[in-house]
Amino acid sequence: MVRILSVGLIVSTIALVAWGVITGYDEVLSVGRMWQTPAIKPHENPIPVMAAGSVPVNGGEALYRAAAAGELTPPFSLADTTAIASGQTAYQYYCIHCHGKNFDGYGTVGQSFAPPPGDLRSTKVQSMPVGVLFKEISYGIPGGRQPALATTVAVDDRWNAIAYVKSLGPRN
Ligand code: HEC
Repeated sequence: MVRILSVGLIVSTIALVAWGVITGYDEVLSVGRMWQTPAIKPHENPIPVMAAGSVPVNGGEALYRAAAAGELTPPFSLADTTAIASGQTAYQYYCIHCHGKNFDGYGTVGQSFAPPPGDLRSTKVQSMPVGVLFKEISYGIPGGRQPALATTVAVDDRWNAIAYVKSLGPRN
């Protein structure tokens, strides 16, 4: 009997001490526990809603998409050498596999198109307004086969690529 009582006493003392330590840790030290840190799971919180009537005033894809091709002007000079140089890189990333290293449509992918993408150095393409080229590269050619690259190529790189293509001039 004494034995059972003393075991019970020991167990309850241990439990009491443990309880004291745990609550003391939380209440006295107040260092916080992992289970208390806020964890926001995906889709748990709604995405902040923009104030009604908010519209971007500059930049932004929506404005480009909404503008008429004729109204679109590049945000920097397309004659700029840095734009042309960056455009060459952009062309090699995003266009060369279709339009080819000679700009004639016989890229590694382009050559399997029937007919292949046209010549970017044709007088037709070279004399097209830059706004029209921007629209076609960004949103595709209606009823045509140019892919819409708006979600793939950054706005500046689209303009740079146009600067590069224009810098090539018509083929002699
Ligand atoms: C998946 C292949 C593909 C890629 C990538 C691609 N194009 Fe094209 N592009 C085409 C095809 C095909 C056409 C011909 C369009 C048609 O016949 O409707 C075309 C047409 C064009 C034209 C001519 C438009 C006209 O009205 O004649 C231009 C300019 C052009 N592409 C520029 C670009 C630039 C710049 C890039 C890279 C940013 C690019 N393309 C990436 C396939 C591609």
